[in-house]
Amino acid sequence: MKDLTNKKILFIICGGVSAYKSLETIRLFRKNKAQIKTIITKSAKEFITPLSVASLSQGKVYDDLFNVENETEMDHIALSRWADVIVVAPTTANTISKLSQGSSEDLASTVILASNKQVFLVPAMNVRMWEHMSTKNNLKTLKNYGYKFIGPTIGDMACGEYGEGKMSEPTEIFDEIYDFLSIAGKNKKLKAIVTAGPTNEYIDPVRFITNKSSGKQGYEIARSLFKRGFNTTLITGPTNLSIDENINLIKIETAEEMFKAIQKSLPADIAIFSAAVSDFKIDKKRNSKIKKHENIILNLEKNIDILNYVSNHNSKRPKLVIGFAAETNNLDKNALLKLTNKNCDWIVANDVSKKNIGFNSDYNEVTIHYKNPKKKKEKLSLRKKSQISEEIVDRIITQIY
Ligand code: PMT
Repeated sequence: MKDLTNKKILFIICGGVSAYKSLETIRLFRKNKAQIKTIITKSAKEFITPLSVASLSQGKVYDDLFNVENETEMDHIALSRWADVIVVAPTTANTISKLSQGSSEDLASTVILASNKQVFLVPAMNVRMWEHMSTKNNLKTLKNYGYKFIGPTIGDMACGEYGEGKMSEPTEIFDEIYDFLSIAGKNKKLKAIVTAGPTNEYIDPVRFITNKSSGKQGYEIARSLFKRGFNTTLITGPTNLSIDENINLIKIETAEEMFKAIQKSLPADIAIFSAAVSDFKIDKKRNSKIKKHENIILNLEKNIDILNYVSNHNSKRPKLVIGFAAETNNLDKNALLKLTNKNCDWIVANDVSKKNIGFNSDYNEVTIHYKNPKKKKEKLSLRKKSQISEEIVDRIITQIY
């Protein structure tokens, strides 16, 4: 038996012939002591009954977004926060389409949209529906949003056809979720620090030098780490972004403040430096506003290199230090120089001369270089920053265990 005591799974059952497999999956989770709550959609009730789900899960079954009793007991936001993980099985082509549009027309889609937890989709549909271009495009969107998929597999279908689209078996679903939960459990003991956004280096009280960083890449990395269970601290320069309240958020403005925040936050197990820290500051910041008629020359002095400081720390160097390299030319060569000079374990290089990636875009394209000479560089081609972050965190987890 695998012990899932205290692990909370929100099961969402959609309408499909494979819904019966969800009952068996729920039984497996209960047998291994997981706590289960279930949402069953209107069309799922055509295939299974709320009563059978309630008796197997020994937990509450929800089915209506506008049910006063349910909303007072546990509203849809609380329900999504309650879960350690959300499993949607079976996920129909219709649900895939709705989720890719961000729909919130019923309880299931509203809870998923409101969730800050990992959502696993377990597709089940006819092979033609699975292979349809619209489904393929929706899947791409959902992967970019950070949804994870279990299956489908290839085989004989209930409709009599053969091909890909068959729902994964309950034991496969159980194993994947078990692995996810046990790694997330271990990650809870690990602290990760992420830096994000720009820094402002003041010239006088109202003017400063900054850069185009929006913070999006760093915030997405912090989100992905948190979703996988890490105790996450995000140290951020000024941005317009918000983040889950369970992430320890430290707002700073200058490189000096970021440096102090890092010093206070150490020790940590993992540190990821995606902030665009200004390399320079004004050597003598003026205390009052500079007047228009004044003749001014700005002298710059170097800011401390925070990444360099952390990766060369004698006693508090995190086990894994990851830097970013924002380059406009000679991407690989310059990134490799930073990898060596800054003594980090990985450097994630992005080309910030391109319009649609890097600074202030929702998309990025990166190459990960490793200090370990046995590991080859890896290119993650153009995709959403959320997806880049998920893939970076996948690699972090593989490396640390
Ligand atoms: O914020 P977004 O709009 O989403 O854009 C994302 C991004 C382009 C900012 C991000 O992907 C990125 O590349 N971040 C690093 C930007 C940068 O400052 O790169 P760099 O090559 O100048 O610095 C190399 C590394 O040293 C970085 O990890 C940086 O955080 C770190 N550094 C730099 C200077 C300094 N004084 N202290 C540092 O820690």
